[in-house]
Amino acid sequence: MKGLIINGPNLNMLGKREKEHYGSLTLKEINNLIKNEFPNVSFKFFQSNYEGAIIDRLQNLKGYDFLVINPGALAHYSVALRDAFMLVKIKKGVCHLSNIEEREEFRKIDLLKDLADVYVCGLKEKSYIEVIKKIINIKGE
Ligand code: DQA
Repeated sequence: MKGLIINGPNLNMLGKREKEHYGSLTLKEINNLIKNEFPNVSFKFFQSNYEGAIIDRLQNLKGYDFLVINPGALAHYSVALRDAFMLVKIKKGVCHLSNIEEREEFRKIDLLKDLADVYVCGLKEKSYIEVIKKIINIKGE
C-alpha cells in the first residue's frame, strides 16, 4: 500500500511553533513516527509553503492508494485547494495537529473538511496516526 502525506505552509517550522497547539516534534520526527507506526505502508512525504505546488502535487497522484493532507492555514481560505482536493479520487484524509474548532474564529472554517473521507484534528502528532489508521481501515468499493 502506498500513501502520500502532504503538509502545507509553515509545517516545516514544527518544533519552533506554538507547542501548546502543535506539540514539540519537528516535521521530520513526525514523518519518522508515521513510518514506524505503519511499517507495511510505503510513504512519500511532501511539504510546501506554496499553494500552487500543493495543487500541482494533488493533480499528479499516480500510484497512490491514499492521501493525507494537513493543509495548514490554506484550509481556512483556499478555494483553489478545495477545488483540487475535490478532484482527488483515491481515499483522502485531512488532519490538523491543533483543535481548530476551539481556536480563533478564522480557524473554524475548514474548506476541505466535508470532502475528506476521514478527518481528525486536535491530537497533535497523533492526528496523523489516527487519520492514517482510519483511512487504511476503509473498505474498498
Ligand atoms: C494547522 C492549523 C492551522 O490553523 C494553522 O495555520 C497551521 C497548522 C494544524 O495542524 O493545527 O499552520 O493546520
